[in-house]
Amino acid sequence: MRQPSLDTEITRLSDARTLAPLSAATAIAQDLLIALRQAKHVVVFTGAGVSAESGIPTFRDALTGLWERFDAEDLATPNAFRKDKDLVWGWYEWRRMKVLMAQPNPAHLAIAALARHVAKLTVITQNVDDLHERAGSTDVLHLHGSLHQPRCASCGQAHHLPAAIPEEPEGGRRLSPPVCDHCGGPVRPGVVWFGEDLPARQLHLAQQQAQACDLFFTIGTSGLVYPAAHIPVLAKQAGAQVVQINPSKTPLDDVCTWSLQGAAGTVLPRLMESAGFDHSA
Ligand code: OAD
Repeated sequence: MRQPSLDTEITRLSDARTLAPLSAATAIAQDLLIALRQAKHVVVFTGAGVSAESGIPTFRDALTGLWERFDAEDLATPNAFRKDKDLVWGWYEWRRMKVLMAQPNPAHLAIAALARHVAKLTVITQNVDDLHERAGSTDVLHLHGSLHQPRCASCGQAHHLPAAIPEEPEGGRRLSPPVCDHCGGPVRPGVVWFGEDLPARQLHLAQQQAQACDLFFTIGTSGLVYPAAHIPVLAKQAGAQVVQINPSKTPLDDVCTWSLQGAAGTVLPRLMESAGFDHSA
């Protein structure tokens, strides 16, 4: 049994090779459309790829991936924050700016619209942005926290950031974190770092929903970071049919009933249209 702290299987990266996108129209199978129309409970599980078309860099894609320019160990661990708070806070403020300047894309909008067509829809995301919510999805389970909910690193008190979009240079800069109003400790980003536990309630609910659904979508995730990457496996083991939407192959290919190769912002609206569902906001 894997530990519920954030972990990654870097060695499996070599398994992920990029394929030319297929024509999504031809790739959507009739039995998938039937499964979608008949589904009683759909779970949509998303990763950084769902926000890629909003201009938010993913973590592991060549050339654009955030970790291409920075070592995760330097920025996304509790130790990194202890060692150099200004570097870490400045980098996350730049990411927060990118997200606040971005808009939900057709994939976020299609997921929000899907809720109108199925009896129950649960959105589970590894993303720390709020693009699902801004597209209209409600009760989104955030497994890796949120850029928009910083808290005190010492006492845990929530810290409220100014509403204005921060103005940060591309790639971030060194910036001192704010101090906690309550105890004067340093404020840290509200995301889950490598080696930290996932929020227990959100993880529990996500696992429960995955095991209760009949159709499970895994969209825009490399399936390399655990324990989140185990959630599609749980769904499959509990009897759900699993659909993947991703331009690349991933280790999750093995658990998928259908794998739609292409960008989520193209494939999801086409899938909705093919099923006869309205996907406008
Ligand atoms: P990754 O960067 O590991 O993977 C992004 C996935 O999205 C890849 O499989 C891409 O092929 C795919 N992709 C790219 N563009 C796409 C598009 N337009 N449509 C659909 N898919 C597309 O991101 P995650 O799997 O989300 O943790 O990474 C998991 C976690 O690792 C993140 O939550 C993050 C990171 O450390 C934290 O920040 C806490």
